[in-house]
Amino acid sequence: MDYKSIIDNCIVSNQLISMTPSEKIVELGYYLDLNMEKTVIDFCCGYGEMLRLWSDAYGISGIGIELFNEFAIKGNERIKEFSLDSHVKVVNTDAKNYKDDTQYDVVCLSGENLCGSLKENIVFMERFLKPDGKLLIGTPYFIEKNVPNELIEFEGQLNTLTEIYDIIRTQGYNLVYFSTGNHHEWERYISWSARRDLESMKLLEDPTEMSKKQEWIDYWYKMYFEYRRRYEAWGMFVIEKVK
Ligand SMILES: C[S@@+](CC[C@H](N)C(=O)[O-])C[C@H]1O[C@@H](n2cnc3c(N)ncnc32)[C@H](O)[C@@H]1O
Repeated sequence: MDYKSIIDNCIVSNQLISMTPSEKIVELGYYLDLNMEKTVIDFCCGYGEMLRLWSDAYGISGIGIELFNEFAIKGNERIKEFSLDSHVKVVNTDAKNYKDDTQYDVVCLSGENLCGSLKENIVFMERFLKPDGKLLIGTPYFIEKNVPNELIEFEGQLNTLTEIYDIIRTQGYNLVYFSTGNHHEWERYISWSARRDLESMKLLEDPTEMSKKQEWIDYWYKMYFEYRRRYEAWGMFVIEKVK
């Protein structure tokens, strides 16, 4: 057994704030035609780990936009550790106000419904895209059309796969690659998030605050066990414009 690569994978996974695992990110890079000449912008990039992986694997240059300063600082430290800081960086700012005249080969938005709907997210992303470029969208979706109200209250209304496809086509794009997740990927993400809450609960002194945090952790896990595991899934979609 290759213990080292399993451990390395766990370390990389801690830097990913969505369901997509590192090996899938590398695979997506292949279908995005990434190489040393390609430029990428990743909105709501978290630690910027996707950019770091692609820079390491394909030699891309790029920029990540992240609202949460702690993620930007930690992401840039890690990028530096790998001596990739001349190629990629995370900028701490609100993606909605981000201005840039550059057009990129690839524009990404994974794990955040930035503009409120898939259609609006595509319209936002294409402002930064070269005419022959590709968009990468990572989004949760409902497995069936009718799901329990408890899940809608928790997640809001999500598209089904067919609805995602129809929106992509209506916006003039074609789907060139997609990949949906499995339980293992979900469970890595669900427990990653719960571990963060557990760590912050350990620092609390006030019993009321502690019990609120515990209630949230219980609710988070039970939403997954009872609803999300069965009715919700996660997909990454590579799309390009129809000429
Ligand atoms: C679920 S995480 C996904 C992170 C990353 N794309 C990944 O897949 O690992 C969503 C990220 O979007 C960031 N975010 C939310 N709203 C934002 C905004 N308006 N501008 C920039 N980043 C934002 C959050 O801070 C968080 O890091």
